[in-house]
Amino acid sequence: MIEVKNIKKKYGNNHVLKDISFEIAPGEFIGIVGANGSGKTTLLSIMCGLNHPDSGTILSDGKIISNSPQKLSKYISYVPQENPLISELNAFDNLRLWFHGSKRELKEKLTTGILKELGIDAFQNTIVSKMSGGMKKRLSIGIALLDNPSLLILDEPSAALDLYGKYRIREYTKYYTSKMNGSVLIVSHDYSELSICSKLYLLKDGHLQRIDTGLSENELIKLLK
Ligand SMILES: Nc1ncnc2c1ncn2[C@@H]1O[C@H](COP(=O)(O)OP(=O)(O)OP(=O)(O)O)[C@@H](O)[C@H]1O
Ligand SMILES: [Mg+2]
Repeated sequence: MIEVKNIKKKYGNNHVLKDISFEIAPGEFIGIVGANGSGKTTLLSIMCGLNHPDSGTILSDGKIISNSPQKLSKYISYVPQENPLISELNAFDNLRLWFHGSKRELKEKLTTGILKELGIDAFQNTIVSKMSGGMKKRLSIGIALLDNPSLLILDEPSAALDLYGKYRIREYTKYYTSKMNGSVLIVSHDYSELSICSKLYLLKDGHLQRIDTGLSENELIKLLK
């Protein structure tokens, strides 16, 4: 269980996050929706240790992990909107940069569990600069999942992907929550992506409020204004 408690963040006079608290249980698929500039990426970057809150804590099973980026990264992995890959290297070597085990262990890992589902072994020798957007996104998710984090955070994962790419990302994330008991937190502006979440939150005016998962696209749009 990951708990986010009383997170506050200001940039100058811009009070972006006023008092954010929520919990994510194993197997949960949580979506956050909010207008451009409402603070979604700021919240995600704090949760993965790339940014510091002015106050507040993050806990894993009751223990504080927000006091060190290493602890946060042990439990929480982040797939940023822009790919974090080294473009001159192939898929396998990008994975190796982040993997703590041997080459043989990584080869084995590519043929089991979620990494097999992601199908990275089929293009492991392809150089990033020659990959499609969907391949880069799958590889970025694969890197984030190498250490089996409790929580996978995705910032607009299917932006710029075609319909099939969007569908595949939905399938992998569903697999991670339903078959591997991982948790997923997704920020999205895409209604089809938000509609598979088990819980939805709206980030507005610095506060996070729970909203109904059954809302229509028009109802969601009205809430954003
Ligand atoms: N490093 C920074 N310094 C100053 N202001 C910042 C910084 N990063 C973000 N902001 C401001 O904080 C607010 C929230 O930005 P953030 O990127 O978190 O929004 P977002 O909800 O992710 O938006 P989008 O939907 O466009 O991705 C915006 O007003 C932005 O200009
Ligand atoms: Mg953002």
